[in-house]
Amino acid sequence: MKIKKKIPLIDQHDKNYMYGGKFGGNFIPETLKKPIDDLTKLFAKLRKDKKFLKDRDYYFKNYVGSPTPFIKLENLTDYLGGAQIYAKVVSEANGGAHKIYNATVHCLIAKRAGKKFIIGDTGAGYAGKMLSMAAKKFGLKCKIFMGSKDIKRQRPNVEAIKQNGAEIVPVSTGSQTLVDAVSECMRYWVSNCDTTHMCVGSTVGPNIFIKICAWSTAQISRELVLQIKEEFGKIPRKLKLFNCVGGGSSAMGFWNEFMDTDAEFYGIEAGGPKKSKLHAAPLTNGSKIGILHGAAQYVVQDKEGQIGTTESISAGLDYPGISPLHCFLKDTKRAKYSSASDEEALEAYQLVSRLENISPSLEPSHAFAKAIKIAPKLKPTNIIIVNSCGDSIKDKDIIKSKLGSYIR
Ligand SMILES: Cc1ncc(COP(=O)(O)O)c(C=O)c1O
Repeated sequence: MKIKKKIPLIDQHDKNYMYGGKFGGNFIPETLKKPIDDLTKLFAKLRKDKKFLKDRDYYFKNYVGSPTPFIKLENLTDYLGGAQIYAKVVSEANGGAHKIYNATVHCLIAKRAGKKFIIGDTGAGYAGKMLSMAAKKFGLKCKIFMGSKDIKRQRPNVEAIKQNGAEIVPVSTGSQTLVDAVSECMRYWVSNCDTTHMCVGSTVGPNIFIKICAWSTAQISRELVLQIKEEFGKIPRKLKLFNCVGGGSSAMGFWNEFMDTDAEFYGIEAGGPKKSKLHAAPLTNGSKIGILHGAAQYVVQDKEGQIGTTESISAGLDYPGISPLHCFLKDTKRAKYSSASDEEALEAYQLVSRLENISPSLEPSHAFAKAIKIAPKLKPTNIIIVNSCGDSIKDKDIIKSKLGSYIR
């Protein structure tokens, strides 16, 4: 299995939409075949449509607030000694996280498809908040599916979704988290696809949703390439790019434009609480391939092959599956995956928020935890960049309950 250098990663699938012959595909009910085919054809056309690309770039700049800052974390670098640490502060995008890129593109597609309704899933609440924001902007009626456990633990984003005029559909089946929200959202779409466009909040699901999401978030690395060239004159050798991995959209966006360079990719999954056997790290913990949400991927599962229970302090990473694109990057050894525990993520959140003027949410705090471990072992000629893809404000209640106080 090999990655081809000159072909966009999202297009490196076979005729069955499988990456490396093993991951992805469209494992969908018959009723979704036509809507998925239609969306696949429409997106193939829009990707080459000058007017659509012009609109996308216009809204990325004038609505999302692109480019987001690229800053040096001087205090953290001095404190740790070793590699120089930078952050791409994607949490400065409109709404506070990378999910706004995917949400904006989906709304533009829905308008082109003549749909008046849009639905989406959410875990941490950012995908839902962003979709509700973009739906309001583009005049679409919006429903957000969210697990009941996540509704309780991500209150600020729940409030934002409501204020944007979207309906929240609480999902109280299964683990009441993201995995159930995605399932419920897809189920709703089966019966309403004639009038309604569906946005999947990460690089998961049937192939077309993986493609649209990765294509949209790739803007992050397009910006970063320019910012790096301005800072260093060129892309430094063996640049180290750290990103948390839930479904995998933020990491795909952060790495996309570096695919054919010698940049090293570090994906960090949710290891869960130190004392628990549960986690949300299928790539790190050797999970087997299974089918989840219409695609083959490594997935946390029990001995009978049923989707397994996960646990993480971070709602955004608390998902048993992982994008087929990341499975492909793992098997081709293009990216390295490991996990950070709840406790390590909390410590990293504290250290970064105390030393710097950014305050990463619990998802990117997993990536910071790993960078903080590795940086002191490296020489200052090494450059580490962490994608700070979400703001901690949404995690205020959880952080207060665990640490007694909240710093930002
Ligand atoms: C801030 C933030 N980072 C990361 C994630 C994980 O998702 P993904 O791996 O698709 O970026 C989420 C998901 O909700 C999130 O809100």
